[in-house]
Amino acid sequence: NQFVRDPAADQLLHYAAEHQKGKKSITTQSGNPVGYKDASLTVGYHGPTLLQDVMLLDDLSHFTKERNPERVVHAKGAGAFGYFEVTHDITQYTAAKPFAEIGKRTPIAMRFSTVAGERGYPDTVRDVRGFAIKFYTEDGIWDIVGNNTPVFFVKDAAVFSSFIHVMKRNPVTNLRPDYDMFWDFCSLRTETTHQTLITFSDRGVPRSYRHMHGYGSHTYGFVNNEGKFNWVKYHFVTNQGIKNIKSQEAQQLAGQDPDYHARDLYNAIARGDFPSWDFYIQIMTPEQAAKSPYDPFDLSKVWLHADYPLIPVGRIVLNKNPSNYYAEIEQIAMDVAHLIPGIEVSPDRMLQARMFAYRDTHQYRLGPNYSQLPVNSAYKVSNYNRDGYGTVNSQGGAPNYHPNSFQGPENDERAQALSPSIPLHGEAKRIDSGNDDNFTQARLLYQSVLKEDEKARLAENLVDWLKRATLPIQKRAIATMFDPVDKSLGSRLRQALHLDEQFHIEF
Ligand code: HEM
Repeated sequence: NQFVRDPAADQLLHYAAEHQKGKKSITTQSGNPVGYKDASLTVGYHGPTLLQDVMLLDDLSHFTKERNPERVVHAKGAGAFGYFEVTHDITQYTAAKPFAEIGKRTPIAMRFSTVAGERGYPDTVRDVRGFAIKFYTEDGIWDIVGNNTPVFFVKDAAVFSSFIHVMKRNPVTNLRPDYDMFWDFCSLRTETTHQTLITFSDRGVPRSYRHMHGYGSHTYGFVNNEGKFNWVKYHFVTNQGIKNIKSQEAQQLAGQDPDYHARDLYNAIARGDFPSWDFYIQIMTPEQAAKSPYDPFDLSKVWLHADYPLIPVGRIVLNKNPSNYYAEIEQIAMDVAHLIPGIEVSPDRMLQARMFAYRDTHQYRLGPNYSQLPVNSAYKVSNYNRDGYGTVNSQGGAPNYHPNSFQGPENDERAQALSPSIPLHGEAKRIDSGNDDNFTQARLLYQSVLKEDEKARLAENLVDWLKRATLPIQKRAIATMFDPVDKSLGSRLRQALHLDEQFHIEF
């Protein structure tokens, strides 16, 4: 069976080879040796089970709580460990410690995911992929929680949950995708067009997690040791090359091996074929931002590479599989608010809301002390937070209030020096940014980046989803999303869907 077996299939063989039979006794959760595991304690052969069967109680009462809530988005994923290594000096831009010197390595954990499906959903579906990196730095945890695309469907957090709802199951039929929900929302909020083109292009189903780029997507801030501030975007360019799966094969794989991407990642690392990405940044000065023709904080737009070229920084390498999936990947808690001195947020409306959402969801999903789980834990934590479910580190005898006269932890001067002072002005009001130039960059992608064969496949993939929506919504999606990108794209879709060139929008 050497032709069908792979390192993932051999996992138990490896375990057996590394452990001696009979070395370890079974115990209860409290470490009490168990005399016989495979029979309940009953009164005679057919008699009832006794409540004093501590082994059974211990087993069942733990089993019934084996599941925590899955992530509300990005539930299906896979992850691994490795390092980030600096290859180029960018200390002129940031004082953040992982970039301190060329050659410096920082341990990382990564989790890849699909967005919309549940924990057991097939990997090879058309969707955005999550690309999240946790850096274990001397200044604590720093997370980049990005995707495999530089933009997103929506750019104001006020419509984020609606967008996710239309990607998830119909509340009555419990079926997904619900094509009416998806195209209805997207054709009404046309800032979705740019990301829709990317998702329905070849990149909508990557060959593996290794064969795709990663992006921080949002604009962040960098502060250097002199306190100078710049805006920054993160790019991770795959060293495995971009490879994608065409729709038909992707659909077959979804049935044959729903864990196709997770298996690929595990096996590649187990074989020593360590995936890596080159880390680049784009830098925009505050002066350039003030004059930019596009909003530099708009998540539906990129910064053009011609204007803001990629600056090399280093590389990330994954060289270790998790030793246990649940402990290390299911329980990993990525958060854009895990930031270190030298790195700041930007006024991007989505990023601002994400600063709230991740801690909030982790406290629900993993409990208030999720940051004490080993995979989430910083090397040192000293503060005035105490107690709660699952406390492991309650910081011993240190005072639990501040200020105090008893040598409790104090303000960090370096972090203070690196905090920029940000002048803010404007009226507090709700300004809908949903119609701010939704097509210039989408058009550039369609007309100048995609080749003819890629355009043809994009149209096929769009038709495959559009044809399942009700007719008025099909028509509206073409009129409000794809005609404005390029009339020829609109015509191509209409032709494939057998719609009249001259139609009116009925909704
Ligand atoms: C996961 C909320 C936008 C990337 C999540 C989770 C929530 C969430 C609640 C589940 C986290 C967990 O249970 O551990 C939001 C909100 C957003 C937003 C409220 C907008 C307002 C984005 C954007 C990106 C993104 C724009 C990418 C650029 C991710 C990734 C994960 C995730 C990669 C999975 C992290 C992991 O692997 O554990 N998001 N999200 N999210 N989100 Fe977002």
